Amino acid sequence: MADDIVWHDHKVVRSQRAENKNQKPCLLWFTGLSGSGKSTIANALDVALHNRGYHTFLLDGDNVRHGLCKDLAFSDHDREENIRRVGEVCKLFADAGLIVMSAFISPFTSDRRLVRKLFPAGEFIEVFMNTPIETCESRDPKGLYQKARSGQIKDFTGINSPYERPPHPELCLDTSRMSVVDCVEGLIAYLLEREMIARKD
Ligand code: ADX
Repeated sequence: MADDIVWHDHKVVRSQRAENKNQKPCLLWFTGLSGSGKSTIANALDVALHNRGYHTFLLDGDNVRHGLCKDLAFSDHDREENIRRVGEVCKLFADAGLIVMSAFISPFTSDRRLVRKLFPAGEFIEVFMNTPIETCESRDPKGLYQKARSGQIKDFTGINSPYERPPHPELCLDTSRMSVVDCVEGLIAYLLEREMIARKD
């Protein structure tokens, strides 16, 4: 970082932005294999929170890779840079007072840890999609597992590129056993229990 770039403090701080919205900012970081249900569950939670009047935002790997990260591929180095950028963007959205959801494979523990460190304790909520690879591969919503198996894609997570399971995620969801509704209820219960959102009568 250049020495002659100096941080400028904002007049309106994070907590004031969040207070205006009557909510606490946080990041729900969905991690897991392609086809494990990250985007589906993150979207369903987004809808549930939005319908309750919360101000939310969702970032999704496939979409972010069309813009901000379209220069990146799937080498270990590019994935690391992808998650670094996304982590910083998530932080900015949380600084704006939003409840943020992100759905990225984010296969490496060290990258996820770096994002966690950007957030105050309790505000980074790691949600591990613990869906077995057999289920992910049988779903194969984009036909990518088939392409990876036939050698048309190299570096495909779970096939010929590693996925490091989170050692201590805040939440584990397995969409081969749980319905979308059950997963969302579990997430909402977690947020209520931690008082990230308030019970509404
Ligand atoms: S990450 O590893 O850098 O976190 P990210 O979540 O942004 O990945 O992108 C994953 C999405 O890109 C997958 O859902 C899939 O649709 C697509 N994709 C294309 N090539 C690959 C690959 N080699 N490995 C994993 N996903 C891939």
